[in-house]
Amino acid sequence: MENKLDFNITLLPGDGIGPEVVAEAVRVLDVIASKHKHSFKFNERLMGGCSIDKYGSSLTDETLADCKSADAVLLGAVGGPKWDDPTAKDRPERGLLALRKGLGVFANLRPVKVHPALIDSSPLKPEKLKGVDIIVMRELTGGLYFGQPKMREMRDGKEYAVDTLEYYDYEIKRIVDLAFSLAKGRRKKVTSVDKANVLESSRLWRQITTKIGKENADIELEHMLVDTASMKLITGPAFFDVIVTENMFGDILTDEASVLAGSMGMLPSASLGESGPGLPHEPRMGLYEPIHGSAPDIAGKGIANPVGTILSSAMLLRYSLKLETEAVAIEKAVDEVITAGARTADLGGKLTTRQMADEIIKKL
Ligand code: IPM
Ligand code: MG
Repeated sequence: MENKLDFNITLLPGDGIGPEVVAEAVRVLDVIASKHKHSFKFNERLMGGCSIDKYGSSLTDETLADCKSADAVLLGAVGGPKWDDPTAKDRPERGLLALRKGLGVFANLRPVKVHPALIDSSPLKPEKLKGVDIIVMRELTGGLYFGQPKMREMRDGKEYAVDTLEYYDYEIKRIVDLAFSLAKGRRKKVTSVDKANVLESSRLWRQITTKIGKENADIELEHMLVDTASMKLITGPAFFDVIVTENMFGDILTDEASVLAGSMGMLPSASLGESGPGLPHEPRMGLYEPIHGSAPDIAGKGIANPVGTILSSAMLLRYSLKLETEAVAIEKAVDEVITAGARTADLGGKLTTRQMADEIIKKL
């Protein structure tokens, strides 16, 4: 991939505000391409509710194949009340889960930083928020979301449902390894979150993590129960550096952590798969998406905050295209406009989605 300049990016704008925010990230990427002499070829596909409407399936084989063959995938959001029937045989969320599994993106990175200018947008006391800089690494293709059996049936005349929390050793090892390598370039602290006082899968998780911790003596490892972690995220969030945890624990903790940043609309995410030798510096398969949902209540109004998606595109440049300089340029531009007071409605401002992106583009 030396000096590669041409990249194929599959776009999955999805439902609700997804298409609005993805369109702005594409404008930002186009500016980066022309400034830094790259060519980004965008290939747009349907996924989620819009794909159910058109093809009768939330993720078609063709779309998955397109994503697999791309250098990276940028996703908006999926879901909405239209597809919320609990008895429906397909749902937008199923497409998202099948996409994550199909791409093998087992590590979901959700950075949570509090911009000094947004401290007042968070319900937490300002002194708690100083220095908050966390990366949550959520396991994304195993655990409670995918474990088998997962089903409903009648048992002795009673309705019965089961989900299973299961992990193989290798699934735990690969994400914990990645958490340690990420921590090396940061404040050298890993908090592994589990429920080892109750769950067998957590005891395996803890055993493997302890072993990896011994092999990485320069990194401080702490184990924390998930209930304690959820409290500590609010009472002392600056304590954390890298958090690594099971799929569903990570889902819940990252929504909680997003409150620290003032608005969910600010936060990006990267979901990464395996890479070549030299972890984590080789290009990886990656799926990039803001952590917010499809926000049907404001869809079509042009007022959604595009920052989470724009920052996701910066992560795309960093982890899948290995364009660090370009990634930093976007992050710096976002930082500057927030400092200068640019605000969409979620942050109490008046800028539209388009205007917010325009401000960022001006700084590039
Ligand atoms: C997320 C979302 C998804 C998840 C839903 C939409 C399936 O909440 O990305 O955090 O639970 O993983
Ligand atoms: Mg979630």
